[in-house]
Amino acid sequence: MLNQQTFLTKAASAVPGEFGVKILLLVRQLAHWSELPEGLKCTYFSPQHKAVAAQLRDWMLSAGLETTIDPVGNVIGRYESDNLAAKTLVVGSHYDTVANAGQYDGRLGILTALVIAEYLRREKLRLPFHLEIIGFSEEEGVRFGAPYIGSSAIAGRFNESDLARRDASGVSLAAVLKQEGVDLAAIQKLARRPESFRGYLEVHIEQGPVLLQNNLPLGVVTSIAGSVRFRVTIHGIAGHAGTVPMSLRRDAVAAGAEIVLDVERRCASDAKLVGTVGQFSVPHGLINVIPGCCELSLDVRSIDDTVRDGAIADILAAIQKIANRRQVTATVKEIARHDAVPCAPQMQSALAQAIARVGIETIFLPSGAGHDAEMFAGITDIGMLFVRCGNGGVSHSPLETVTAKDADVAARVLLDVLVNLH
Ligand code: GLV
Ligand code: MN
Ligand code: MN
Repeated sequence: MLNQQTFLTKAASAVPGEFGVKILLLVRQLAHWSELPEGLKCTYFSPQHKAVAAQLRDWMLSAGLETTIDPVGNVIGRYESDNLAAKTLVVGSHYDTVANAGQYDGRLGILTALVIAEYLRREKLRLPFHLEIIGFSEEEGVRFGAPYIGSSAIAGRFNESDLARRDASGVSLAAVLKQEGVDLAAIQKLARRPESFRGYLEVHIEQGPVLLQNNLPLGVVTSIAGSVRFRVTIHGIAGHAGTVPMSLRRDAVAAGAEIVLDVERRCASDAKLVGTVGQFSVPHGLINVIPGCCELSLDVRSIDDTVRDGAIADILAAIQKIANRRQVTATVKEIARHDAVPCAPQMQSALAQAIARVGIETIFLPSGAGHDAEMFAGITDIGMLFVRCGNGGVSHSPLETVTAKDADVAARVLLDVLVNLH
């Protein structure tokens, strides 16, 4: 175990390079808690997720922040302004992960903010706004299919109908929260007043190759793509793999496969569009049985909601056409919808100026991935700083990587933005 007090004290000396080395050490330490024996997985309110929350809380306390874990699991560290009537600037990201995840997605942003908050406090650099570092408890939607549980609660956008969602073992979100001692009525009370916010900033690994290809460590995010997600269930007729002639089959998997290829074809037709079938299962599937059922997920995204919705209309029509032709039934359920959001021009320009001040060329780019920042759009000014993703830009994968040098310059840009923002 690291001696955290020593670590955070050392980080405060802020010689170039030191923030980055420390951020990466902390990222690696959090990755020790995983639901998988090999590979990183940390989903909402698992024992490992709670251990990560406790560790973040301890680090925030060591950093001298007023620290709490709220009922939905957000870990919040507050550094107050001298002006008690000031608004609050939130710098956040998430600590849950996908399965077989990279170590940096979400956590890089929390730990960059933490190291900078510690530095500000030690150097007694007071800001004209209260600063809150938030490790959001849930962004990926892995356990309950409901993304942004943590950030939606703080932003006042928690969707109560999500409480009925169930995890793979059939336990509902409501039951899990109650087991954790959460008064469900308290969740809506976590919502902050919109006028209490000075803004929202998030540092995040890019999760794509643009910065790498441009040989730049950082980028300013212009907007975050919107996404719509569906579950598709196909019912055909199960049968004996050896006896039913090909022409008489109603194979649910063959229909599902055709749907996957249609999604790929349609979404490849526009550079602003992406579509993914990330889950494909055959309940009770066996090598010698014609599949009677097939379930698949569908995720369609675009920076332009009209482009996305046009593609979705085409794909849904194609699904019914394929089902009719193959004499199977296809049921489609929309499970999540988030529109694209712009980052505030004021935050983009604050980030760009800080990047210029550290002597780096500024690049602006949209985010194809979803982020907690989305929940705060329309409520306060949001800004996002992307950090170069190594290994060709791969993310949601153990191959995801960030260098200490890039993490360091991201931390220094965040610090510069905070001390120059009014
Ligand atoms: C979150 O990582 C998402 O964009 O799916
Ligand atoms: Mn992610
Ligand atoms: Mn993320």
